[in-house]
Amino acid sequence: MIELPIIHDPNGNLTFIEGGHHVPFDIKRVYHTYDVPGGAVRGGHAHRTCEEVVIAMSGSFEVVVDDGTEKASFRLNRSYQGLFLPTMLWRDLIDFSSGSVCMVLASEFYVEEDYIRDYDTFKAAASDG
Ligand code: TYD
Repeated sequence: MIELPIIHDPNGNLTFIEGGHHVPFDIKRVYHTYDVPGGAVRGGHAHRTCEEVVIAMSGSFEVVVDDGTEKASFRLNRSYQGLFLPTMLWRDLIDFSSGSVCMVLASEFYVEEDYIRDYDTFKAAASDG
C-alpha cells in the first residue's frame, strides 16, 4: 500500500500523485471504472510489463492479488491510499460498493498483448519465473 500526500484544509483536503515520486513509475495512462453493478467482478488478468497503482477515489472495493503461489486481499476505501500492482500479479476486483470509482495509474499505454487473461497460462508463466 502506498500512502499518498494529503494537504489538509478546512475547505477540503487535497491529494496529489507525481509519477516516479509517489508511484514507482512514470505514469503513461490513467483510467477509471465506475457504475460497477453489485456483485460484478473486474480484473481477472495479470500484466507482463505494465505496472499499476489502484486507488478507490470514492466508495470501496476489494483487490484480491495472486502471484501464482500466494493470495492476498486488500480493501481500498481511501482516496489517499494506492495499491501497487507489480508485473505478473493476477488481480480480481470484487465487492464494489454502490457509487464506487476505481482509478488506475498505469506505467504503459493500453496493449492487449500485455495481458494474460487465462489463469492457467498465468500460473505456468509465474512458475517459470
Ligand atoms: P480490462 O483491463 O479487462 O478491464 P478491468 O481490468 O477493469 O476489468 O479492460 C476492459 C476493456 O476495456 C477491454 O476490452 C480493453 C479495454 N481497455 C482499453 O481499451 N483501454 C484501457 O486503457 C483499458 C484499461 C481497457
